[in-house]
Amino acid sequence: MPQGTGHTFSHMQDAGFVRKAFAGIASRYVLANHVLSLGIDCLWRRTTSRRIASLDPRRILDLATGSGDLARSIQSACPAAKVLGADFSVPMMREAQARQFQSLIAADGLALPFQDGVFDVLTVAFGLRNMASWPAALQEMSRVLRPGGSLFVLDFSIPRTPGIRQLYLFYLKNIMPRIAGWITGQRDAYVYLCGSIERFPSGKDMESLICANGFQSARTTPLTFGIASLYEAKKPG
Ligand SMILES: C[S@@+](CC[C@H](N)C(=O)[O-])C[C@H]1O[C@@H](n2cnc3c(N)ncnc32)[C@H](O)[C@@H]1O
Repeated sequence: MPQGTGHTFSHMQDAGFVRKAFAGIASRYVLANHVLSLGIDCLWRRTTSRRIASLDPRRILDLATGSGDLARSIQSACPAAKVLGADFSVPMMREAQARQFQSLIAADGLALPFQDGVFDVLTVAFGLRNMASWPAALQEMSRVLRPGGSLFVLDFSIPRTPGIRQLYLFYLKNIMPRIAGWITGQRDAYVYLCGSIERFPSGKDMESLICANGFQSARTTPLTFGIASLYEAKKPG
């Protein structure tokens, strides 16, 4: 286990709270995302989709697909691929359907209803952080990928550059929950979001977590001063 971060990697997110939180914000989730990130979240998903397209995969699972924004972006970057979105929140998947993404299945990331090795690529954007066990979720992702298949984890991280880091933490703790509360009426969900970002490992720590749970060759691409990171890794074989 990586040292010196205070992360235990066995931190438990409360699945009941997470389900309720996403059901509560589902109808305003996309709007809140775009306002809070000034639309930059679309660029992060596009970067991820382009990387995936360069692998020319055929079967792709977008886990924790939520409103399906990443799944749609991947589908347009990889028109020949079959992209399936999975999530344990039906209200969130209704948003995906309303946004013209229909290839969906209700599933818990910790117990996926697929046989071993069926996907070429598995993506999870802003989802792993919310799962009850990060190691168990990664092992399950590895199980459903074929040997040599690719994992992409896109999630928030805290910038490391002094100055930017303090500024971002101030925004995260003091401004973001207030704005999100106005938009969604669910300020608590965004107070949770802030804490979950602080607890979530990033950079080398995340690479170690990924490699300890069914993957190899993990690498990190920091996005927008490191307020988000894209992790890419391969299933051995
Ligand atoms: C912040 S949203 C991300 C949605 C989408 N991937 C995006 O890029 O906007 C997180 C999603 O993870 C889902 N989620 C959390 N834990 C899950 C689990 N154990 N299994 C499946 N989905 C889960 C939530 O229901 C929610 O839709």
